[in-house]
Amino acid sequence: MARKIVLTSGKGGVGKTTICANLGVQLASLGFRTVLVDVDIGLNNLDVVMGLEKQVVFDITDVIMGKCRAKQALVEDSKFQNLFLLPSSHYGGKTKILGEHVRSVLNMLDSSFDYILIDCPAGVDAGFHRAVFSANEAIVVVTPHLSSLRDANKVIGLLNEYDLTSKGLVINRMRGDLLASGEMLKVEDVVRAMHLPLYGVIPEDDAISSACSIGGYLNSVDSARAFSLLCENIHTGTKKIYDCEMKYRGFMGYLRRNIKKRV
Ligand SMILES: Nc1ncnc2c1ncn2[C@@H]1O[C@H](COP(=O)(O)OP(=O)(O)OP(=O)(O)O)[C@@H](O)[C@H]1O
Ligand SMILES: [Mg+2]
Repeated sequence: MARKIVLTSGKGGVGKTTICANLGVQLASLGFRTVLVDVDIGLNNLDVVMGLEKQVVFDITDVIMGKCRAKQALVEDSKFQNLFLLPSSHYGGKTKILGEHVRSVLNMLDSSFDYILIDCPAGVDAGFHRAVFSANEAIVVVTPHLSSLRDANKVIGLLNEYDLTSKGLVINRMRGDLLASGEMLKVEDVVRAMHLPLYGVIPEDDAISSACSIGGYLNSVDSARAFSLLCENIHTGTKKIYDCEMKYRGFMGYLRRNIKKRV
């Protein structure tokens, strides 16, 4: 049976889709058969972030409407073996897509995969329910900003109403230079505010942004390391967290911080 993990946040734009795609790459690289499911019906973009939009033939709503089988709708990633996408659509039909529909599609894939990562839309309405209903585990994605933490707090309250075996936290877009100069919320402060085990910290990195915008491979050793530690923590329960601040400590770090401020 696959582990079905939903990535959610409440607040939009904090990096759910980005983390879903990069975590998928890491899991697949370790040899785990992984499918990424876009449940953002209407504002779907996981196919674009993965650079697979041209290969999409069927999507999750086609499966639900009985137009194809779940496996027919899967798109195999061209760069990474073991990695698949179940795309979503701009569906505007009359039939309401419910959590039960998504669950029945995921059940069809259950025995063929090790991991099913579910990319949840922003907000806490029907789309949120649709995504969380099918999951066994949840990852709450936040950025180190109060507005993100407030929304995530609401989401964590709602997640308690679902039958989830575990919930964990990923802090995205952490700036090492601002941490070192005391201008950003610390990892410990975020964890304390959220009361969830920390699965990972991902740095703010232009390479992540450009890989997402052109749907390409992540070309940054530092960020790839952060995603690889996140993957290890999720798979084996280790608690190794990427240290975003390391580069900005000491004398050389002081220089790097000042250079970064000037550019
Ligand atoms: N660690 C990061 N460093 C730099 N840019 C990032 C990082 N994480 C995400 N981004 C950028 O932030 C933007 C929003 O990310 P993403 O689409 O993953 O958020 P989301 O939570 O899925 O949004 P939505 O709620 O709209 O679905 C994207 O342009 C992405 O490239
Ligand atoms: Mg998204």
